Amino acid sequence: MHSTYHLPSHPSGPCDENPAAPVQGSEDIHGGLEEGGTGGRGGDLVLHAAVCGVGDGERGGGVEYGGVVCGCGGGAVLLGGVGVSSFVESAAAFATGAGILVAEGDEHKRQRRALLPAFAFRHIKDLYPVFWEKSVEMTDAISHALKTDPTGSSVIEIREWASRATLDIIGTAGMGQDFNSIADPSNELNVTYRTIFKPSTAAKVMQVASLFLPEWLIRHLPVKRNEEFKEAIRTIKRVSGELVRSKRAKLEKGHRTDTDILSVAIESGGFTDDELVNQLMTFLAAGHETTASSLTWAVYLLSKHPAEQTRLREEIHALLPAIRDPAAKISSTDIDHLPFLNAVLNETSRVLPPVALTVREAEKDTTIQGHFIPAGTTVVISPWAINTSNALWGPDSKEFKPDRWMGPGKANTGGAESNYAVTTFLHGPRSCIGKDFAKAEFACLLAALVGRFEMELAEPERVLEIQGGITNGPKGGLRIRMREVGS
Ligand code: HEM
Repeated sequence: MHSTYHLPSHPSGPCDENPAAPVQGSEDIHGGLEEGGTGGRGGDLVLHAAVCGVGDGERGGGVEYGGVVCGCGGGAVLLGGVGVSSFVESAAAFATGAGILVAEGDEHKRQRRALLPAFAFRHIKDLYPVFWEKSVEMTDAISHALKTDPTGSSVIEIREWASRATLDIIGTAGMGQDFNSIADPSNELNVTYRTIFKPSTAAKVMQVASLFLPEWLIRHLPVKRNEEFKEAIRTIKRVSGELVRSKRAKLEKGHRTDTDILSVAIESGGFTDDELVNQLMTFLAAGHETTASSLTWAVYLLSKHPAEQTRLREEIHALLPAIRDPAAKISSTDIDHLPFLNAVLNETSRVLPPVALTVREAEKDTTIQGHFIPAGTTVVISPWAINTSNALWGPDSKEFKPDRWMGPGKANTGGAESNYAVTTFLHGPRSCIGKDFAKAEFACLLAALVGRFEMELAEPERVLEIQGGITNGPKGGLRIRMREVGS
């Protein structure tokens, strides 16, 4: 099994109030291995061993999520289709085993403690102007591409643009280095990541093989995909190393004022240069395609729901400065005070979470809602199944309805009874450390895009399928017809 985290055991068993749930705040985990499990309260993580609608007793392919068809066959087939833990597996490969995503126990605690200040909201709020600048640059570049397209089709492939924008954002805001891939798609790092993330039959075969063969064997098979992967990791490691060395040299000369995450991590004094390289590779792996996936899904869902798209554009035009105004400054308060924008972001992340599945391995014998889990058991956690469970969200759980997040008391809950009804970023000590960063950049990117363009599906008849991989996305990309509007 690939790098998996260990589930701690729970010495005291389920809590008294609800025998099906573990003790509040304990390290045990709950959420329902049985069909119809509802998640519930307490605990550090909510688990759902179910996949693709199993929590609601639905099985098999053809289930629609906001209108996208999940082509999986349910259960184990989904593990092959979506890629169990491919997020962690790939990040593990990038991070060469030492970054925060794959560290365990006390070592993980140490790394998380040292990195937390860099990801705290009081620091992230200073990064909004960077997120906004890059979002505007993306819309300028799209506008230019449309005007100079020799076919005059007005159609773009949005996933590609989203990936280039989020790569530049993690570079600039995360590492103080603009990779410039919006302006220049042939940028070395962009080309490298496109190689890694490109879906291919070979990648799928290896993913399925990884369910049966040990990781070391898969990684050493003499196939082209492995060679591509190794070469890509060498490139990413070299670029990350150069970044760490130049940033360290700059800081040693007393040039301190950079707000990027790498600077804060260096200043924490908690990491050697090699460890910093591993962390950078982790941020690149964990923090780039994930947000690109969310942006792509938001464009898809808004194209399927034109009334919601118009409503969002009206809010953006009413409350934000003109997108094309180069002098416009955007702060966290400006973005956070757009209720419908935040509702659309939350609903997109709920219905189509970029990390559909992840896994944990029980370190010791334990229980989940009264079920005995022997040491060594691999447990699948499916944010996707939890986020779209009928038991938690009602019979329309799989529909895209941003209004769930509107109205008194609903902005943070979507009307659900439990905080654990959304697990897009997981919860607890191993939740996504980049959550606030991701939410802020997603908000800026979507606001700039919707403020500037009307968008519709270029192939409305096409039944879109979800492509598994490191993070999920529309199979074959997403072609969108763009029309520039005011602002
Ligand atoms: C929409 C965007 C994102 C989503 C949905 C997302 C989701 C997740 C999830 C589900 C995990 C837990 C994985 C596991 O343990 O199995 C995770 C971990 C992590 N994420 Fe994110 N992520 C996003 C963006 C980002 C960004 C932008 C960054 C960095 C700037 C980032 C950095 C990390 C790191 C470092 C971890 C490991 C945390 C730890 O183990 O302590 N993520 N993310």
